[in-house]
Amino acid sequence: MIVPQRKHWSLFLLNARICALGLISFATVTVLPAASAQRQSIEPHRPVRERILIDEDWRFQKNDPAGATGLLYDVRPPLEDDDKDKAPDAAAVEAVKVGPAVQPILKSWILPTGNRFIKDPSRRYVRPAGNPGGNLFYVQPNFDDSGWQSVTLPHDWAIAGPFTQKGGGGMGRLPSGGVGWYRKKLTVPASDAGKSFFLDVDGAMSYAAVWINGQLAGGWPYGYASWRIDLTPFILPGKVNQLAIRVDNPPESSRWYPGGGLYRNVWLTKTQPIHIAQWGTYVITPEVSTTSATVRLEVRLDNDSRATAKVRVTTDIYELDANGHRAATPVASIDSASKSLAASAEDAVTGAVVIPHPKLWGPPPNQQPNLYVAVTKVWQAGSLQPGSLIDTYETQFGIRSLRFDPNSGLYVNGEHIYLKGANQHHDLGALGSAFNLRAAQRQLQTLQEMGCNAIRISHNPPDPELLDLADRMGFLVMDEIFDVWYRVKTPYDFHLIFADWHEQDLRAFLQRDRNHPSVFLWSVGNEVGEQYNGAEGAAVAKELVDIAHQEDSSRPVTASMNYAKPDMPFSIPLDVISLNYQGAGVRALPSQYEPYHEKFPQKMILSSESAATVSSRGVYLFPVTKDVRTPVTDGVGGDPKNHQVSSYDLYSAEFGSSPDRVFASQEKNPYSAGEFIWSGWDYLGEPSPYYSSRSSYFGAIDLAGFKKDRFYLYQSNWRPDLPMAHILPHWTWPERVGKVTPVHVYTSGDEAELFLNGKSLGRKKKGKFEYRLRWDDVIYQPGELKVVAYKNGKPWATDEVKTADQPEKLLASADTSQIANDGRDLVFVTVRVADHNDSTVPRTANLITFSLDGPGEIVATDNGDPTDLVPFPSYERKAFSGMALVIIRAKPGQTGAIRLHAASPNLIDASVLLQSVPVKP
Ligand code: GAL
Repeated sequence: MIVPQRKHWSLFLLNARICALGLISFATVTVLPAASAQRQSIEPHRPVRERILIDEDWRFQKNDPAGATGLLYDVRPPLEDDDKDKAPDAAAVEAVKVGPAVQPILKSWILPTGNRFIKDPSRRYVRPAGNPGGNLFYVQPNFDDSGWQSVTLPHDWAIAGPFTQKGGGGMGRLPSGGVGWYRKKLTVPASDAGKSFFLDVDGAMSYAAVWINGQLAGGWPYGYASWRIDLTPFILPGKVNQLAIRVDNPPESSRWYPGGGLYRNVWLTKTQPIHIAQWGTYVITPEVSTTSATVRLEVRLDNDSRATAKVRVTTDIYELDANGHRAATPVASIDSASKSLAASAEDAVTGAVVIPHPKLWGPPPNQQPNLYVAVTKVWQAGSLQPGSLIDTYETQFGIRSLRFDPNSGLYVNGEHIYLKGANQHHDLGALGSAFNLRAAQRQLQTLQEMGCNAIRISHNPPDPELLDLADRMGFLVMDEIFDVWYRVKTPYDFHLIFADWHEQDLRAFLQRDRNHPSVFLWSVGNEVGEQYNGAEGAAVAKELVDIAHQEDSSRPVTASMNYAKPDMPFSIPLDVISLNYQGAGVRALPSQYEPYHEKFPQKMILSSESAATVSSRGVYLFPVTKDVRTPVTDGVGGDPKNHQVSSYDLYSAEFGSSPDRVFASQEKNPYSAGEFIWSGWDYLGEPSPYYSSRSSYFGAIDLAGFKKDRFYLYQSNWRPDLPMAHILPHWTWPERVGKVTPVHVYTSGDEAELFLNGKSLGRKKKGKFEYRLRWDDVIYQPGELKVVAYKNGKPWATDEVKTADQPEKLLASADTSQIANDGRDLVFVTVRVADHNDSTVPRTANLITFSLDGPGEIVATDNGDPTDLVPFPSYERKAFSGMALVIIRAKPGQTGAIRLHAASPNLIDASVLLQSVPVKP
């Protein structure tokens, strides 16, 4: 049965670039028509679109060849700001003005790459004549690069170190700055003649410029953006084509570790001249219920040929199962009438379909992250005959409704979802910024175990695979693009290119990410300096918010504010109020929740950053503050000698709070949609308060992925139905016998009794706005601490810690025993220094040496110690608070047993057996 109901979708077509194009609507079909079923059996004889991962066989070289000139993207201001240890929330300031370039620069040849994302055609850039860099031998096809390093992407040139002790540790003490060159040969068969060719780069850090066969083809400055270069004019079918990419990371360009190089996937996309555009589909679900959902789809088409063409566009929508496998038959289809495409132009078709009884996407535990895929096909001359198929394109999406309630927060499919969020930087600890799916999954799994249901991508576009992962795992994502606008935080940060690139970067980011059901909120900025400059700053905010509305009508837009107050103009253009730290109150200032809620009663409000509590896993310093939070300083939570921070979870950045103080402010302001803690995991760089270190102290989970005590404090509050109790500190303090050693307990119960060597130290109940139980006067005696927690008067959970004996052995355990041999899968092995009872011996720092037999390799080691400056690839690592981590990869294509061996003087060795297995189809 075919139910055509032509619908117009004008509301969702605010992109004026698209509006300028002729639009037609698809006919809408609710039930699969016979014709569509028939189409399933028709498959092309040749691939009409190829998306080829080209991560293998690259050659890499650091630095330009001697004498190379004219390769700088643009003139840079003099490097004046040397104050590397300023407060993390220091205000951004006015930019330094730079004069026009006196030397040749690349900018004019790079800017046209972004033209697709500039709405006003008159503002698009025309490529000047000439071919900068074309004479350089690094870009020539016949240059012999066999002496360069062989690398496989994703590649971060800086993560292997060595760490430097010079200067502040804001950028992680790793050599991320400077120029790097990548070269790769692309063999293109003669039969590809006439096709369109695109280089799709998921991320290159930063200021990338691309030459193909010696011709400068374009580039993209922002290191976190995904971008495309049209290689078509330069590719020689039937030949080996030479790609050369130069990236140039300025020093002092970031407040955290950026990494360096081609650190995400790179693809070669081949299409027919008529094809679906880059990120050319846009799916939204404006009407959703359990009985039916409307799916609206826009498909943008590029006709790169010189002739007018007639096409027809069909889309079949399939359910995906939890493993991403597509159902055999579609649940709905959309079929356009024939459409005429002008030569060398873009166009779009739109349509909608109703899906009965949809499987909704929603966050666990009450909902499931169900996904669908829309398979869109473009047919030439309106015919559905096999030979007429000219493009296929898949769009994964989810069906879900969002509601943003100023008085109670976020609703997904009608269910109130309190945001238990975490801020996450892009690095993956010892693996650096080179994206790895398994490492990212481990981060999210650990956060999910903590009870976290949302992440804020701070403060830049993520790897696209991270959003796929969030879709599959049911995370909600606050997707953020910029940390600075015009005003400066670090001398060479994004402000240098904001004026020229913010529109292109923002539209590209929105078009790339807007089909992800996980993304519920856009953020166009974090703590930008424009908060401080009144109407001028608000005007910039408005411009960015307007762009976001044009590209996506289905989600609100915000920017995070640590300074702006309700009576300042900055918040006016924002749809959602996102406060950094101001919910609990920054420094001596009171909470800004109530004033904001009163001033903007129609806007939802949330804490986009909260807490900024600091701690080093397993480190406890005495005495312990009696307060609910104390700014960390030397001697007060901070150890000025060892540069570690106490783990009582009461010490924070000067402007921050303890988790407890934030929980209270959230509970007192129940209209708040929730919080995003700073931070979920530790990250490279920004090692406040000890800038001599390499990595942060902010995480609830350390850089190696080991849980700090704070993990359990969040879990106790965020997973109230999970029976759990957690005692801190550890109980091995030979030097503290007879001394006051406070004991704190995190539990999802409401009451607990603490026992030391079987003797009760009293039963305590959480008071109103209290989230931990404190026995602050415990006198240390070795032995056993045990807690029995209660909920509603009934026993609920227990925990115990024992005084450890002498270190006797190493114990090793892997997170899985099998590893796929695709060169990407990873196994994470935890090694502990243990006593004869197998209990971890706290405070041990034994040097452990690792070795490996079989078809695998040790990629990196770590221990979560922010002060450890031993390079990550080292096979030797000191335990930190009794623990170390080894990350192992299988050799691509090889199978068999891999054995990791861990040894340390005077300790019994440990080993772990893994199997390298073929990749599952
Ligand atoms: C905030 C900032 C974050 C991070 C954090 C550390 O002010 O937005 O990027 O620096 O402080 O507490």
